Amino acid sequence: MHLILLGPPGVGKGTEAEILKKHYQIPHISTGNIFRELFQQETEIGKIAKSYIEKGQLVPDDITNEIVRQRLYRDDIKNGFMFDGYPRNVAQAEALDKVLIELGMKLTAVINIQADDELVLSRISGRRVCESCGAVYHTKNKRPKVAGVCDICGGKLIHRDDDKEETVKKRLKIYNDQTAPVVGYYKEKGLLVTIDGSRSISDTNDQIEEALGELK
Ligand code: AP5
Repeated sequence: MHLILLGPPGVGKGTEAEILKKHYQIPHISTGNIFRELFQQETEIGKIAKSYIEKGQLVPDDITNEIVRQRLYRDDIKNGFMFDGYPRNVAQAEALDKVLIELGMKLTAVINIQADDELVLSRISGRRVCESCGAVYHTKNKRPKVAGVCDICGGKLIHRDDDKEETVKKRLKIYNDQTAPVVGYYKEKGLLVTIDGSRSISDTNDQIEEALGELK
């Protein structure tokens, strides 16, 4: 399976990817997570990325495309991959096409998870992430066993810096201006599968697995 998960900020891409990666045994490649890890490791690229992320802007394409290119040359993608948060504009989609041609790979499907702005804003406002391992929770929809503590590693749960309301509004605008055209790009290629993301986490997963089952 060679998959891309598309959709607005907070719709549930990362949450669904964590379930799907176990089902299909493929790595979950989130460019947002990669940037956050590079920042935690205090790398130069991480610092540059953070300066864009905290303003709700996209990290420049040359940096992002190079990170993805290096990631795709690692051995663990032999059975496939699942991108989450990449590509985010048409230039990134074209850059990905080039690397996939080099590697002799083809996309299986592009899963477009959709929900309205009001719902994604409520999901983002309740989101809490583990500052140590990055696991994602929600104050109502996906509670940890102990409030404020990660079930997996015991780390502290925090609100992401770029989840402030003003920054989220900017991220949504960028999504509508720059990422929404990527949907049309893959629709033209016949790869697009649209999923109703307004349902529960497990219902959304069922819809995705059903759609992918038909593609096998
Ligand atoms: P990134 O980390 O990719 O953020 P995003 O795309 O904005 O997506 P989110 O992580 O906010 O949301 P999600 O859809 O994964 O939702 P989640 O599963 O957490 O990017 C961050 C920044 O990095 C960007 O703004 C940019 O600056 C930079 N960047 C990243 N990639 C880039 C690129 N390619 N180019 C340039 N810059 C890039 O779910 C949200 C909440 O809802 C959670 O609390 C969850 O528990 C809950 N939830 C999920 N699904 C459901 C459901 N079905 N029902 C109820 N609750 C649910």
